[in-house]
Amino acid sequence: MSTGAVQLPADLFRDLDLASEEVRQNFRAHLSEWAKHPPFYVDQKGSPQAVVARFGDMRTVLTDRKRFSAVPPVQDGAAMKKFMPNKFMNVTPPTQIEGAAHARIRNLVNPAFTASALARYGSVIDRTVEGILDRAVADGRQFDAMDQFASWLMPLVMLEGMFGFTPQERADFVTMNQCLRLTSKLSPDDPFPPEYTDAFARAEATIEGIVATRRGQPGDDIISKLVMSNEDGDTLSDRELFELVFVFGAGAIESTAATIGGALLSLAQHPDQFVQVKHDPSLIPAALDECMRYHGPGFLLFTRYAMVDTELDGTPLPAGMPIYVCNQAASYDPVQYPDPLRFDIHRHPENVPVFGGGAHFCLGNRLARMVMIQALTRLFERFPAIDLADPDFVPVYDGALSETQLVSLPMQV
Ligand code: HEM
Repeated sequence: MSTGAVQLPADLFRDLDLASEEVRQNFRAHLSEWAKHPPFYVDQKGSPQAVVARFGDMRTVLTDRKRFSAVPPVQDGAAMKKFMPNKFMNVTPPTQIEGAAHARIRNLVNPAFTASALARYGSVIDRTVEGILDRAVADGRQFDAMDQFASWLMPLVMLEGMFGFTPQERADFVTMNQCLRLTSKLSPDDPFPPEYTDAFARAEATIEGIVATRRGQPGDDIISKLVMSNEDGDTLSDRELFELVFVFGAGAIESTAATIGGALLSLAQHPDQFVQVKHDPSLIPAALDECMRYHGPGFLLFTRYAMVDTELDGTPLPAGMPIYVCNQAASYDPVQYPDPLRFDIHRHPENVPVFGGGAHFCLGNRLARMVMIQALTRLFERFPAIDLADPDFVPVYDGALSETQLVSLPMQV
């Protein structure tokens, strides 16, 4: 097959639907196989796209900004529109800004997410997690660790505790995030379900109200810090603040819930290691790295594009070709992580790509790690005998495109 002047080798095409339930439910088997190969092609929507699965190839795509970008080279080209329903309704996340404009946003936002800026929220996290656990076990000794624990963490800890949202503002925001998955199988020309557009409109009004309130009367929450952020006289506009708050929700809530669910499942499926972590909380930070390597919240980053005709490990990548970077597959690359399907909390894996890499490395990674470590610590300290309610539990996954969020995780304490 050829795109423009570049001939694509037919043997690099795979008959694979990345959005299929079969791939989602069996992600580890598929991805660990992809991780052994140079980039290959899929033909998702009538034109070829590349899948990058090896660790080194992933790093090249994420860091070589002359050859690869998160912004398509021809932004209004019909070819690009085929791949991207406008599901964020014209919100431009930082992941789709490059160069100096992107660096400027990061400079203005980073001070609110440093270790010292976040340290003051330690007691808020502990208090909130205790409240979530009180409610989870109010009816007995079994609870659903997804529905009653993981999915409440960011809404209550981050939105209410750190951003200062009211319960109603938090609820509007969470509903919109939950509705995002209604868009995952849409083609660009399909209409959005009214449930999604309504939820989006409500969340939009809510966020605009929050930004306006903080402008008028800044508090000591993270949104107020962003409102007041000032780098040599440069500040964030109302529209930029709106887009950032929107993206924090989209980036934080579901991914943290899915990550902590995956961590609990991975630990519980390895009882000898689970016992060690439950009895020695100092093991939690390193164990969490291995959990995130073994079972992240999803398997694809935002789409990248080849900026020029190029190649990676012999696979031609013509200018404009969309590239699916599979960071979860890179976590199973045997060159980077020997014997990658062995789960070992003492592995101390380096550079786990769960938070991406390069210029777009997750802005909230420190916040997310802090919340997850404290949440697991409180959970194990309070319930040292916690375990799966059913030792033969079979995971079922759901979520937006390429997400691996457990539908439920029944546990007993
Ligand atoms: C376990 C939880 C989380 C995971 C696994 C995660 C994962 C990621 C990944 C993989 C990226 C890079 C995407 C790409 O390059 O295409 C990213 C970017 C981003 N994340 Fe997170 N994230 C998490 C939590 C958070 C939180 C709590 C926040 C906000 C407070 C956040 C805000 C962002 C933002 C704003 C970006 C875009 C950064 C940029 O483009 O410069 N994330 N995240």
